[in-house]
Amino acid sequence: MPTPENMILREMLARETGWVSGMALASKLGMSRVAVWHHMEKLRAQGFGFEAKRALGYRLVSRPEGLHATLIDMQLKVRPRGFSLVVLDEVDSTNDEAARQLASGRAAPFAVFARRQTRGRGRFGRVWHSEFPGNLYVSFAFRPRVPPERMQTFTLWMGVNVCELIANFARVTPGLKWPNDIVFDGRKAGGMLTEARIDADRIRDLIFGLGLNVNAPPDGWPADLARSAVCVSELAGGALDFNRLAAALVGRVILAYQAFTDGEHEKSFADLWNRFDVLRGRRATVIEGGRRHPGTVVGVDDEGALLLRDEGGRTQRFRAGEVTLEK
Ligand code: BTN
Repeated sequence: MPTPENMILREMLARETGWVSGMALASKLGMSRVAVWHHMEKLRAQGFGFEAKRALGYRLVSRPEGLHATLIDMQLKVRPRGFSLVVLDEVDSTNDEAARQLASGRAAPFAVFARRQTRGRGRFGRVWHSEFPGNLYVSFAFRPRVPPERMQTFTLWMGVNVCELIANFARVTPGLKWPNDIVFDGRKAGGMLTEARIDADRIRDLIFGLGLNVNAPPDGWPADLARSAVCVSELAGGALDFNRLAAALVGRVILAYQAFTDGEHEKSFADLWNRFDVLRGRRATVIEGGRRHPGTVVGVDDEGALLLRDEGGRTQRFRAGEVTLEK
């Protein structure tokens, strides 16, 4: 159910001239003009600016910068039943917050966005630098009804979907480095962290976390990341509309999740993976359990495992590990 604030914004953005009369808003929202004005005050407090003219009514003249729940929500093209989202100013980790909300019984699916994380995490417990409000930190929470063994390709499938969305949205060419990195020419622009709680033979809940460098200033990275990190805006040639991107991402993630749980993803997974995979055919070393395995990457199998042909021509299969490319 859209809030009155969402409805006011939707009405204003839907008009070609931008102007909408107080009377039209009141009748659309089914409330008095004073009540409408009250909701507009709430929007003003959130950073929206309105111009008022006696003969024309109101129009939106400025929006808050950065991530905003209403601006995401009103631009959603796909809204599954019961889906909700929150935008937090600051949180330890959106994955941890989503886990807490799932544990307290919040209905899934939902998304937790944050403008900043104080303890953003990556694979192997690494720090995910999350100080820039210009980047995206989001976790999607689900309660899937699929057996745990079906989840092996989940992150890879979500990765190809996120990459296709970024490619279409920003007119850029991202790549995927198995299993969870979104890259541009060897520089990392995003990472995914999927976490599931499993009871016996059943998934209790699932969290898909995504960190995506969108609009952060190029000189803002810590020294150790200055050469290895990149933002989508650098490649797109300008800042991206953050809330529109977030809304498009929500739609894509929800559709991708549905396709995955229905088993529909199997038809297109291999093609999409091959389109974005940056490792296939490259010489690389896989580090797994402290051991180094050099070879040439062949691709991934149906279960999402990485296939590596070693010096002796044998193909090895890796379910986990860290890949470094030879120069
Ligand atoms: C990786 O590259 O190892 C994965 C990084 C995942 C980072 C995202 S940011 C949103 C969500 N919250 C976290 O603490 N981690 C993920």
